[in-house]
Formats: sequence, C-alpha cells, structure tokens
Amino acid sequence: MRRSLVAGNWKMHGTRQSVEALLAGLNQQDWPEQVDLMIAPPSLYIQQCRESLEGSQIRLAGQCCAYQAEFGALTGEISPAQLREAGCEYVIVGHSERRNLFDETDEVVCRKFAAALACGLRPVLCVGETRQQRDAGETAEVVGRQLQVVLESFGVGGLAQGVLAYEPVWAIGTGLTASPEQAQEVHAMIRARLAMLDDEQAQCVQIVYGGSVKADNAEALFAMPDIDGGLVGGASLNADEFGAIARAAGRA
Ligand code: PGA
Repeated sequence: MRRSLVAGNWKMHGTRQSVEALLAGLNQQDWPEQVDLMIAPPSLYIQQCRESLEGSQIRLAGQCCAYQAEFGALTGEISPAQLREAGCEYVIVGHSERRNLFDETDEVVCRKFAAALACGLRPVLCVGETRQQRDAGETAEVVGRQLQVVLESFGVGGLAQGVLAYEPVWAIGTGLTASPEQAQEVHAMIRARLAMLDDEQAQCVQIVYGGSVKADNAEALFAMPDIDGGLVGGASLNADEFGAIARAAGRA
C-alpha cells in the first residue's frame, strides 16, 4: 500500500515575517498521520522552517539543487549535500519552471536527480506536457521522454527512491486543474510504463499530481487509484488551505 504525499512548493514567495505567520498557521493544523507531508520553502528560509517545525511531521525540501552532489565552483547554486545538512529530506528536480525558464534539459535534470540520490535526498521528479503538446496528442510521448533519461540511469528502483510528480504545464498556476480522470489517465499510463520494466517497484512509486490543486478539488483527485497525493503551489501559501488538502489525502 502506497502512502500519500502532500507537498507544498512555496516557489519564490515569502519574507521572514510572512514565513513566520505561515509556519504558525501550519503548526495549528491537524495533520493526518497516514500522509507524508513536505514543504519546499525558498532556501533562505529553510533554517527558519526547520526550527519552527521541529517535532512536526512536516519534512523539508529544496526547490532545486546543483547537478553536483558536494561542493564546487558553481556560483549561486546550492548543493544537495548542503540541503541535506540544512535538514532537507527531499528536493524538487525538473519543475517545469526550471525546464522552461532556466533551460534545464532532461540530461541536466537527470544529473540533479543523481546528485540528490547520492546525498541521501529523495528527488521529486516533475514531468508534464504543455497545452500545445496535449492538444497535439503528445502527452504520453513527452512524459515518456522526460522519464526515459532517469530510467536509463537508475531504473524503476531509482525512481522509487524518490517521488514522481505529474504536473501538466497548462494547469500550473492557471487555476485550470486537470480533471481527476485526465490526471488518472496519465498517472496510470506512467505506472503501466514503469510496470513493463519492473512491476514490483512500479507499484511502490509515489506519483503525485500538481497543477492548481486546491482544498475543493483535492479530494476528487486523491480518490483516483494512481494519484498518491499532490504537489501544491499557490494553495500551499495558505496554512488552512494546505491543511485541508492534507486532510483530503488522509481520507483518500
Ligand atoms: P500551482 O503550482 O498549485 O500553483 O498550480 C503547482 C506547482 O508548480 O508545483
């Protein structure tokens, strides 16, 4: 039986003060024990989050990491080893904003995945198609290609050490959520593809959905058999909303 994960990606939002208020709100929530919880704050606030969430079941993540595991001359980057030392257990890799706005290729994403694993972090690998690609009927091909590089290097067992996030680009930050059926179709397609390589491991891979997840659509999404929780952007900046999404996962 796979556990659900509800993860919050705060992106480039927050000040020390607003983070303090958000953390206070998170600390008042009733969290379902059977759900894995994680937040990815901007790196500058990881320490603040770690202190405030001490003893809570919420785990920490980096939003991105360098493609090199330890240290090096990479101005502006943060290594997985540094994230680990700061208290992170996860790191998001290959978010569509990184792929599209910062030109991260599948190869670079795969190196980041490798670096994260090498440091004992669980990489959350994001995949997903654009509106244009969906309209052209290319969803399976695009997602397959994004997975391929990582699968070639690490196999399904490697993916199972991390988390997969299906995030259709057209649903991110747009308010346009994929319907539960649309999302389930892609999740099931991904799992079937993984099962062809290694059925046992494929059943263990957590596949979460991301793209305008909110308290009022979470329950229907999480009820789908291959949707194992959500990667939540905008709605994770509101503690009550994030709490409600987590509790919806608890009921799934
Ligand atoms: P959103 O973002 O929930 O604001 O659509 C999701 C994400 O980018 O992970």
